[in-house]
Amino acid sequence: MQTLAITGSQWGDEGKGKITDLLSAKCDTVVRYQGGNNAGHTIIVDDKKIVLHLIPSGILHDHCTSVIAHGVVFDPEAFKQELDETLKSGITINPKKLKISENCPVITSYNKLLDAARESQGPVKIGTTGKGIGPCYEDKISRKAIKLKDILNKDILSRKLAQNIQEKKILFNNLYNMTFPSVEEETEKLFELGKLVEPFLADTFNYLDKNLSAGKKILFEGAQGVLLDIDYGSYPFVTSSNTSFGGIYTGAGLMGGKIDEVLAITKAYTTRVGEGPFPTELKSELGEFIQQKGGEIGATTGRKRRCGWLDLPLLKYSVKASNLTSIALTKVDVLSGLDELKICHSYRYRGKEIDCAWPGIDMNEVEPQFSDMKSFHDDFSSNSMSEELLAYIRTIEEAVNIPVGVIAYGPERKQILFRKDYF
Ligand code: GDP
Ligand code: IMO
Ligand code: MG
Repeated sequence: MQTLAITGSQWGDEGKGKITDLLSAKCDTVVRYQGGNNAGHTIIVDDKKIVLHLIPSGILHDHCTSVIAHGVVFDPEAFKQELDETLKSGITINPKKLKISENCPVITSYNKLLDAARESQGPVKIGTTGKGIGPCYEDKISRKAIKLKDILNKDILSRKLAQNIQEKKILFNNLYNMTFPSVEEETEKLFELGKLVEPFLADTFNYLDKNLSAGKKILFEGAQGVLLDIDYGSYPFVTSSNTSFGGIYTGAGLMGGKIDEVLAITKAYTTRVGEGPFPTELKSELGEFIQQKGGEIGATTGRKRRCGWLDLPLLKYSVKASNLTSIALTKVDVLSGLDELKICHSYRYRGKEIDCAWPGIDMNEVEPQFSDMKSFHDDFSSNSMSEELLAYIRTIEEAVNIPVGVIAYGPERKQILFRKDYF
């Protein structure tokens, strides 16, 4: 296996950081290809908690090169903060270990202000992370984005910022009534940050191409999850990038075209942070219990994550939408010991029984149908699992038709069971 993608199969926070960190030990390069610092990937190393938002989770391994490819929207201010914090935790970061595409769109103050304005005053609250992700991708698609290479030259930067803000000014002044930095102020700020970013800038496209040709092992670290994908997700309650594996082709480039394994990071139950439909949500004491036991608090915003049962019609859909080839089932320990355990096997939708979702299905209308599963009480002190837990895993495998290759039963590196070889 030379190329592997880590993809969240639900609404994010499935444990991608932990699995990426573990598999980085066996690969040469880890690549972020979409999203931005809306991600929060948590890794626990020897009682130390490291949360990465923008920097790939491979950075913890010195032999591994981390790449932020051009599909990522890049906030230089957030990068500065993350770099400081990561260096403080004793992790080595230098331009040899971290390469950033000069073609990444830059998240500006204007993008962050627009995100906040829409969330507080707009007609639909998405529950975004407030990091300016959506507005920056809008700039990219409307061909107004500032690219990282632009912030190295004051004249170019100031000219592009003036063009960029022409329409936004009208929104800030007349619709949202908010103050915003002048082009001069924003130019100064980004130009200063550019000096920090410059040594890390690289032609990541040819770097990846050469690595692939040389037979190096490459891991693509997805952020968010398939159900937050701009095309496949629960629109409009989604993020603004292709979080599914298709994003790799446009956001990083994959010369030769093949990804050998697309590993679906799947929580043994379901969580969601932010607004939007959630068919299997537990709005009960049990939901609250799972939230607390699982420590389900957003790593980026500190918001409580909503919790519910595992949803197979959605998982089956994610497998198809993102070409998922095996599953890493995480947080199994959180379900261990529950008296009640259910799994959603199908929906009733407009008078029909369906077992797989599709783009555009109205998730507010689906009625989830549940199977009662036998509770399991595993303490994971040995490598064997109870019959009840094995039955839970088999139910998933049979429904989605791909194997569960990894089982995670705690946040630490050693709390993991591999049933399949990766790399
Ligand atoms: P990501 O965004 O997909 O990387 O996931 P997050 O890091 O946002 O959230 C997952 C949380 O669960 C983190 O706090 C992890 O430390 C933790 N975690 C990961 N795997 C497990 C597991 O198997 N069991 C438990 N109890 N916690 C886990
Ligand atoms: P990781 O990589 C969970 C959610 C937000 C909101 C929606 C849009 O840690 O899994 P955005 O700021 O992207 O415009 O917000 O997407 N969201 C996430 N939810 N995990 C994430 O990342 C997320 N990144 C964005 O809560 O509902
Ligand atoms: Mg997260």
